Amino acid sequence: MNDTFLKACRGEKTDYTPVWIMRQAGRYLPQYRKVREKVDFLTLCKTPELAAEVTLQPVDILKVDAAILFSDILIPVEPMGMKLEFSESKGPILYNPVRDETSLLRLRNIDPSEDVPFVADAIRLLQQKLAVPLIGFSGAPFTLATYMIEGGSTKNFIHSKRMMYSNPQLFHRLMEKLTVTVIAYLEAQIQAGVNAVQVFDSWVGSLSPLDFKIFALPYVQKIITALNSRVPVIYFAFNGSGMLSLVRQSGAEVIGLDWRIEISDAVNTLGAGFSVQGNLDPCVLFGTHDLIRERVSHVLNSAAGARGHIFNLGHGILPEVPVESAIAMVESVHEISSKRR
Ligand code: CP3
Repeated sequence: MNDTFLKACRGEKTDYTPVWIMRQAGRYLPQYRKVREKVDFLTLCKTPELAAEVTLQPVDILKVDAAILFSDILIPVEPMGMKLEFSESKGPILYNPVRDETSLLRLRNIDPSEDVPFVADAIRLLQQKLAVPLIGFSGAPFTLATYMIEGGSTKNFIHSKRMMYSNPQLFHRLMEKLTVTVIAYLEAQIQAGVNAVQVFDSWVGSLSPLDFKIFALPYVQKIITALNSRVPVIYFAFNGSGMLSLVRQSGAEVIGLDWRIEISDAVNTLGAGFSVQGNLDPCVLFGTHDLIRERVSHVLNSAAGARGHIFNLGHGILPEVPVESAIAMVESVHEISSKRR
């Protein structure tokens, strides 16, 4: 077992900097597109053999140091009572958005072993085949709430913020329900054998620091406390570098960073007790291999003072990226960082 990734999470010495890529199993890989020709996205998530197959693809092709379970953050909200579809053009659609008391009361707590058994099944299949650690994940309550309230993706979060500011109690009750679901969902993944978990807070950067503190942070803290350090937790607050002093209070020992901050500055704000993950701009992968190497080197330098560093992009890899560029990035990380040890 290559445990470099887990060592970096815990801040232990490693022979080189481990690397994985958010959305590493996805449309930029011809092998993924081939599987997707036969099944729609939700069926792929719900079929353990296929989910396991596409989870393994980037590990074999890119030689990354961790696998991330193939699934989606919206998988657990469907059994809560949301009518979910993934449209090829518009992304996720939730047909019955939660915007009032009645729709909130209809939501139920999930039992992962009954409602999403395919998740644990995929994890167990993967644990027989993987030589690198497996990362489980969940959306954070705020990010999941935005999808449930808006009914899909959004630019300005009007419905979510209208509820936050006009009926804060209703918003908090939705967050409470989501927190119960997320804890059960992550515990089931840990029980089935994931070696670390990442909590994706993709849209929390739409909030002011004050509102992050009131409406989002307490629920993330509750989740991470409930997991009780059984596996390393990565908290990724996308677009959150303006509120890192609050993000550091999440309880996670690994903080995911996007590319809008120098890692060295983030480390200064976070202080000693944290490992960091990130943070190359995903579009750097449209540059030449020389350019990619230069920018990888810069990120590695910037992270030199961190307790531990896991190399990643600052957000998901884009479908248009050439596979060779992703391979070049992983090779550069391994080569440059092992020379420096
Ligand atoms: O990282 C991985 O390889 C594991 C799989 C994974 C997916 N989604 C697969 C996926 C993970 C970890 C996610 C998380 C996710 N899903 C997030 C948080 C990460 C982030 O990007 O901020 C969010 C916000 C979602 C919601 C979501 N799922 C959207 C908005 C979309 C549509 C946009 C898009 O990229 O198509 C998805 C669909 C989705 N999730 C795809 C994949 C591979 C594309 C589906 C396809 O095959 O057509």
